[in-house]
Amino acid sequence: MAMMVAEPILAELKQRARAAAQHAYAPYSGFRVGAAVLAANGEIHAGANVENASFGLAICAERNALFQAVARGVRRIDAVAVYTPTRHATTPCGACRQVLHEFGPEALVVCCTDDTAAERRYALGELLPGAFGRTDLEGRQ
Ligand code: THU
Repeated sequence: MAMMVAEPILAELKQRARAAAQHAYAPYSGFRVGAAVLAANGEIHAGANVENASFGLAICAERNALFQAVARGVRRIDAVAVYTPTRHATTPCGACRQVLHEFGPEALVVCCTDDTAAERRYALGELLPGAFGRTDLEGRQ
């Protein structure tokens, strides 16, 4: 089950993700992404993808937004919005799903574009079933 978040808050979260995409640094892929996370304390932190001439060093918008939040003391998120200026909504990549799971295993994931009808919503658990997490480490020998 995904977290329940009030629609006006989600509207703000999506807006922050959209605004963040304007600062995406994506000269290699041309694929601009913005993301915003809603912390359990109500704060919103946003980020965009940042690429590099050494291609493998690119960071996705979702992890950028999440790390901005964590670096400011956030340890729990209720939702994340991902914005792309595309026809279809974009879901977080596998690496981002894993990293989001660390701080919001039940987070609501809202994937949006400029077209309201293209919006898609998921529980993180749907996108990453059977996730590996900190409790798995408790079984170490
Ligand atoms: N990217 C994201 O920022 N988030 C996603 O969910 C998918 C991919 C970025 C990484 C890279 O800068 C570009 O999009 C193309 O993969």
